[in-house]
Amino acid sequence: MSGHPEMLALIERKKAGEAMSPEELAWLCQGFVAGEIPDYQVAAWLMAVRWRGMSESETLALTRALVASGETLQWDTGSPIVDKHSTGGVGDKTSIALVPLLAAAGLTFVKMSGRGLGHTGGTIDKLESIPGFQVQLDSGRLRAQVARIGCALVGQSNTLVPADGVLYALRDVTATVDSLPLIASSVMSKKLAAGASAIVLDVKFGSGAFMRTQAEAEELGRAMVRIGSGAGRRVNALLSAMDQPLGKTVGNALEVVEAIEVLRNDGPADLRALTLELGKRLMILAGVCATPEKAHQSLERLLESGHGAAKLAELIEAQGGDAAVVDQPSRLPQAPVVQPIESSRAGWIAETDARLIAEAALQLGAGRRRKGDQVDPRVGVRLLAGVGDSVEKGQPIAEVHAASAADAARAEESLLPAYRWAAEPVSRPRPTHLLIED
Ligand code: URA
Repeated sequence: MSGHPEMLALIERKKAGEAMSPEELAWLCQGFVAGEIPDYQVAAWLMAVRWRGMSESETLALTRALVASGETLQWDTGSPIVDKHSTGGVGDKTSIALVPLLAAAGLTFVKMSGRGLGHTGGTIDKLESIPGFQVQLDSGRLRAQVARIGCALVGQSNTLVPADGVLYALRDVTATVDSLPLIASSVMSKKLAAGASAIVLDVKFGSGAFMRTQAEAEELGRAMVRIGSGAGRRVNALLSAMDQPLGKTVGNALEVVEAIEVLRNDGPADLRALTLELGKRLMILAGVCATPEKAHQSLERLLESGHGAAKLAELIEAQGGDAAVVDQPSRLPQAPVVQPIESSRAGWIAETDARLIAEAALQLGAGRRRKGDQVDPRVGVRLLAGVGDSVEKGQPIAEVHAASAADAARAEESLLPAYRWAAEPVSRPRPTHLLIED
C-alpha cells in the first residue's frame, strides 16, 4: 500500500489541529475526484476533521474547493435567482409549494433536490408520484424551461460539485457525516454552484431532524450563512422545529396533495406558515420587497388569486407530468388499503414523534433504507389529530395508506408508540421560526 506522501503530511497536520490552506484544500478535492489520492487517506483526513474541526476561513476555502471541482451555473433571466435548502425533515413538502409560488411572484427559482434516504423524505421522490413527471432535464431543456416559466424542480445535477459526491459517499461509510464544517461546506457548495444570488436555509431541529437541539441547528445555520455571505450571496437561515411532522401527511403522493392544498389557499397551518415565512425571506433577500409585511401580503395574494397553483400546473406540464392533478389531486396514485387507527384511550395528545411516524411510513414503503430501493408513491400516514387535540377512546387519530392489509396492521403497531398522552389539556404548538441573518 503506498499512499500519497503529500496527503500523509496533510493528515498529520490536521490530526494536530492545524488549518489547511485554500491551495491544499483545492489540491485535495481535485486529487480525490481524479483518483490520485486513495480513499483510505481521505477517510483518515475526514476523521481528523471530524475531531479537530475547521476554522471559519478554512470551511469557506473547502466550500470553494468543492465548487471548483465541477461546473457552475450562471443564469441570465433578468429576474433575481433564488434558492432554498432544507436540512431534511419529516413531511417536509415545502419546496413543492414554495418554488411555484415565488416564480408566480416574478422570481427565478431553480431548485435541485435529492431523494429521501433513511427517515427523511426527498422532494424528488414526492414529485415522481405525479404521473409522467420528469426530474432529470438536460441542460438545454432546463434553461429553456426556466427562461419560459421562471422555475424548475429537478434532481441534483452530477456535473455540479463532483467532489461533494465522492466525499459524501466516503463520509457515509466512515462515520464522518456528523461534522459541522463538512455538512456546512457540502450543503453550501451545491447552493453556490447552482448560481442563486439569494438563498434561504431551513435548518430543522428536534426529534425528526438531523440536528437534535436548537443550539446545534443554530451553529450550523450560522456557519452556512457565513459561508454564503463570504461567497458574496445573500443568505438567511430559518431554524424550524421538527418534533412533529410538518403538515398532516408523510408519504409521497399524500404530501404532494398537501403542497397543492397550500397553493390553493388551504392546507395545514404549519406548512402554510413555513412556506410563507421562507418565501418572504427570499423576497426580501432578492430585493423585490422592502418589508416582511409587504412580502407576506403579496404572497398571500398569489395564493388567494390561484396564481401560485397555476404556476405549479405550468411547472408540472413543462416537466412532462399530468398537470390536471392540481385541480384533481385524486388523479395521484392511491393506496388500495386505507385503514383508520383508533385511539386506545381518551386524553390529550402531548406528542406525535416525527421520527417514529417516519419509521412507520418507511416500513410501508414510502422511503428507502438503502440507496436504490424502490419507493411506493401511494403509501404513507395521514394524521387526523395532533398535539393539543383532545381525543375520545376509539376515535380515529390517523390513517394508514398501505399496499396491503398486512402492511397496514404492521404499520399500526409501529405508529402507536409515536403518540404520547396527557390527562390534562396540552397547548397546541406554535410554529417556531428563528431567523439568522448575514
Ligand atoms: N446534506 C448534504 O448535502 N451534505 C451533508 O453533509 C449533510 C446533509
